[in-house]
Amino acid sequence: MAFKWVWNQLKGYRLRMGCGLLIVLAASALGMVNPYLSGTIVDKVIVDQQYKLLIPLLAVIIGATLSRAVIRYSFQMIFESVSQNLLLNIRVKMFSKLQELDFDFYDKTRTGDIMNRLTYDTDTVRHFVAWVIYNVFENGMIFIFAIGMLFWINPLLALIMLLVTPITAFFAIRLANDVKPTFFAIREQLSRLNSVVQENISGNRVVKAFAKEDYEIRKFSIENQAYKQKNVDSARVWEKYLPVLDSMAGVLIALIILAGGIMVSNGSLTIGELVAFNSFIWALTNPIRMAGWLINDTQRFAASGERVVELLETEPKIKDSGSPVAKDEIQGKIEFHNVCFSYGDEEVLENVHLTVEPGQTIAVIGPTGSGKSTLMNLICRFYECTSGKLLIDGINIRDFELKTLRDNIAVAMQDIFLFSDTIEGNIAYGVPGATMQDIIHAAEAAGANDFIARFPEGYDTIIGERGVGLSGGQKQRIALARALLKNPPILILDDVTSSVDMETEYEIQHMLNELYGSRTTFIIAHRISSVKNADLIIVLDNGKIIEQGTHQELLNKKGYYYSVFVNQFGDFDNIYGTEAG
Ligand SMILES: Nc1ncnc2c1ncn2[C@@H]1O[C@H](COP(=O)(O)OP(=O)(O)O)[C@@H](O)[C@H]1O
Ligand SMILES: [Mg+2]
Repeated sequence: MAFKWVWNQLKGYRLRMGCGLLIVLAASALGMVNPYLSGTIVDKVIVDQQYKLLIPLLAVIIGATLSRAVIRYSFQMIFESVSQNLLLNIRVKMFSKLQELDFDFYDKTRTGDIMNRLTYDTDTVRHFVAWVIYNVFENGMIFIFAIGMLFWINPLLALIMLLVTPITAFFAIRLANDVKPTFFAIREQLSRLNSVVQENISGNRVVKAFAKEDYEIRKFSIENQAYKQKNVDSARVWEKYLPVLDSMAGVLIALIILAGGIMVSNGSLTIGELVAFNSFIWALTNPIRMAGWLINDTQRFAASGERVVELLETEPKIKDSGSPVAKDEIQGKIEFHNVCFSYGDEEVLENVHLTVEPGQTIAVIGPTGSGKSTLMNLICRFYECTSGKLLIDGINIRDFELKTLRDNIAVAMQDIFLFSDTIEGNIAYGVPGATMQDIIHAAEAAGANDFIARFPEGYDTIIGERGVGLSGGQKQRIALARALLKNPPILILDDVTSSVDMETEYEIQHMLNELYGSRTTFIIAHRISSVKNADLIIVLDNGKIIEQGTHQELLNKKGYYYSVFVNQFGDFDNIYGTEAG
C-alpha cells in the first residue's frame, strides 16, 4: 500500500528519479573497475613483469575512484532534493486533509497521534525516498555486476560464491516479515507517549492545582518505559538476523580462500584472478550486510507510509453533497423536523420539533448535559442528524454547501478557543478585512471594549496560547465580539455570558438588541435575565423539549422554567411584580 502510494506521489519526479538511478547504475559499474584492475596489476605487472603498464593502470584506478565520488555526490543530491520536495507536498496535503476532517474525527483521534503522522512518519517516508531507494538499487546492482565479473573471470568459482545467495535471501525475507510488526508497535507507542506529553502541557495548570506532578511523571514513565521496550523488542528481531547475514559474508571469504586456493594450486586460476576475486568480495558481502539495514528501513517506511496514507484517505463524514446549494444570503428560517441525534449509542436529542422564523431570538435553557450545545452543533452541521430533517430557509442542511452554511452562521462556542495572536487578530479572525472601527464596534457590543482599552497595548495586546493571561469572562467577551463582528444572519451564543457578571451581562443584552438588528439568534444561558426577552424559550431536558413558549407563558405553566425562575429570584411574588412591571 505504502509503495504504491509513494509511487503515485512521485509523479513529476519520476524522470529525475530515473536519471538518478541511471547515475547510480554508472557508479555501480565504475565500482567494478578497481577490483578488476587489481587482478590485472598482479598478473600483468607483477607476474609478467610489464612494469610500464603500472602507471597507466594506476591512473585509471585513481580516475575511476574520483569520478565515482563525484557521481555519487550528484545522485545523492538528486534523491535528497526530490525527497525534500515530496515531503513538502505531503505535509501540505496532510494539513489540508486535517482542515477537511470533521468533529467526529477529532473526537476520536489523539492530537499526539496526528502530530506524529505529520512529523515522524513523513520523515520516515522522506528517508526512504532520499536514501533507501538508491541504496537498494546500488547494492543490488553492485552485487549483480560483481557476480557478472566473477563469471567472466572464472565461472566455476563464481558459481561456488553464488551458493550462499539462497541462504541469504531466505534469512533476509524472514527478517522482513518479522521486523515489520515491531515498527507498527513502536509507532503506536510513540504516539501514545506524545499524547501524554501533549496533554500534560495543555493541562499543566490543572496538574499544578491538584499537585499531581508525581502522578503525571509516573504516567509518563509507564509510556516511556513501554516505548523503550518496543524499541528493544524491535532491535531483538534484527539483532537476531544481522549476525546471520554478517556471517554469510564471512562464509564467502572462507569459500574464496578454500576453493580459490585449490584452483590456483591446480593451475585453473591465476594468482591475479584470485586477487581480483578477493577484491570483488566487498561487492558481494557489502550488499548482504546492508540488506539487513535496508530491509529494516524499508519496513519502517511501510509502517509509516501506511499511517500517512490512512490519514490522507480518511473521509470526513460531513462533506458537500453532489450538487450543493451555494446561496449567497440565508434568511435564517430554521426548522427541526423530528430530529434525533446520538454521538454513539446513547440518544442525546430525541424527536426535536422546532420552527424558528427569520429574525427571532430563541433562548435555550436546561440542565447541563441536556443537549443544548449539541442542538447548536447540528445547526452548524458539525454533526449529522441521526434521523429527522433540519431545514434552513426550507432547504435541507445537507444540501447546502458547507462553506455557504458556515459563512452564514456565527457561533460563540461554550469552550472558548483563542489563538495566540493579538486581540485584534482574534476578533477579526472571521472577517480578516474588518476595519478597526468595526472591530471596536463589535467589542463594544460584547462589553469587551472597556477592558481591552485598559490594556497598555490595547487591541495589539498579544494573548498567549488558548488565551492565557485573560480571565474567563474576558475570554468569553472576546469570543462574543469575534462572533458579532461576522454579523451573520444566524447567530449562536452558547453560554457566552456565564462568566460575565450580571451587570455587564445586562449591558451586553442591551447592546445586542440595540446595535445588532434583526437576525435569527440562539442564546443558551442559565440566567433567566438572559433569556426572558426572547421570542421563544425552549426548555431542554435529557434531549427532549419539555417546555416552550414566551417568558410569561412558561411562568404560567409552573413547570421547570418556573422553578428555575423561583430559584434565581427567591420569593416569586415579590420579584414577579417588579419584573413584570
Ligand atoms: N463530542 C461528544 N461525544 C460524545 N458525547 C458527547 C459529545 N458532546 C457531548 N456529548 C454528550 O451529549 C450530551 C449532551 O451534551 P451537550 O449538548 O454538551 O449538553 P449541554 O450543552 O446541554 O450541557 C451529554 O451527555 C454529553 O456527555
Ligand atoms: Mg453546552
